[in-house]
Amino acid sequence: MSIRKSPFYYGGVVKDEYFCNRSKETKELVADIDSGLNVLMYAPRRFGKTSLVLNALSKTEYSYVFLDLMSIVDAEEFINEYFNAISKGINTPSDKVVTLFKKVLGLRPNISVEFDMNGLPSFKLNFLHSESKKVLNEVLELPFRYAEHQNKKVVVVFDEFQEVVNIGIEEKLRSVLQHHGDIVSYVFLGSKKSMMKSLFFDKNKPFYKSVKHVPIDKIVSSDWEEYIKHGFESHGKQIPEECIAAILEVSKGFPYYSQQIAYELFHMSDIHVETPMVQVAVDSILEKEEDLFWNEWNHLSQNQKKALKLLIYAEGENIYSRETMDHFHFTSSSLKKAIEGVLAKDVVDQKAGTYYFQDPLFEYWLSKQ
Ligand SMILES: Nc1ncnc2c1ncn2[C@@H]1O[C@H](COP(=O)(O)OP(=O)(O)OP(=O)(O)O)[C@@H](O)[C@H]1O
Ligand SMILES: [Mg+2]
Repeated sequence: MSIRKSPFYYGGVVKDEYFCNRSKETKELVADIDSGLNVLMYAPRRFGKTSLVLNALSKTEYSYVFLDLMSIVDAEEFINEYFNAISKGINTPSDKVVTLFKKVLGLRPNISVEFDMNGLPSFKLNFLHSESKKVLNEVLELPFRYAEHQNKKVVVVFDEFQEVVNIGIEEKLRSVLQHHGDIVSYVFLGSKKSMMKSLFFDKNKPFYKSVKHVPIDKIVSSDWEEYIKHGFESHGKQIPEECIAAILEVSKGFPYYSQQIAYELFHMSDIHVETPMVQVAVDSILEKEEDLFWNEWNHLSQNQKKALKLLIYAEGENIYSRETMDHFHFTSSSLKKAIEGVLAKDVVDQKAGTYYFQDPLFEYWLSKQ
């Protein structure tokens, strides 16, 4: 028996045959980077932000620097992680990197190099704590200096950028980056919409109006239908349309879950998939995700919990109607406060007066409780 590679994947970044659509966003992103804009993009976790940006960048000729701020705790760690990311992004052999940085780009601190088990280098800047402000400045200038040096645009992606607040360098970042013109394009990605909005849309914040916001939407059903159908068929299996519809009804087109359900279904089915199997696949996923959902639930106040139940009951519409509020013993002011809470916690979002859960599987799980 041959081992079949799965046509579906969920977890980290997806590319090539695992990357579905996003052609509109990809085009827009590439065009914005071409014209040297700085771009802001936010979407819930597991929505496909990183995949989209890396996929768009692979379609360009630019060098790019990719830094995930998620695990960085302070300015000094930022300096070293960013420096490493820059070294990796500029495609220079590691023995030449040090010369490039020191001689060509004029970086002052001493650089030491370490190699891991696979022979991959990692760089460290040696400086005193008292010098960290100066060094931060120098490192932040590097992408610009490098772009000028090679006379070619450089793209810098800051993933999970909302963490910049905890690192405490937002003002510094903004004051340096704003002088980098269109030869360096910055892409700011974030998964906490409320924090990202406050960073970029709040008049009193340093990043106010410094970017173009590129919205990222769910992948539409017709694209998923084709992708999932092709995934099964290219691996010798058949999936009826109603089955795909049942997947998308639960996942609501949310990328991670659409892939996850399709993946489970693919592995539990023989040649023909039957509709009741979708439920079995979903149940097995719920079992795996349940701890996470309980955790999310337990972080809510009583009124916020009640408000979520109300949203499910009202399907997110006309939530302030008398009947709906009475049903849950809410006054309009207590409901308003609870809704503000779940919006701020990024559990819920709203579009054109309708409220919806950011995580469709969390909603599904809750509705089954
Ligand atoms: N364009 C796409 N086509 C198909 N599946 C996708 C696509 N984008 C994302 N996915 C699915 O979603 C998963 C998460 O993608 P990715 O890591 O890019 O999201 P993210 O928004 O950066 O998540 P996080 O906030 O956790 O970093 C992928 O492993 C894949 O299953
Ligand atoms: Mg990501």
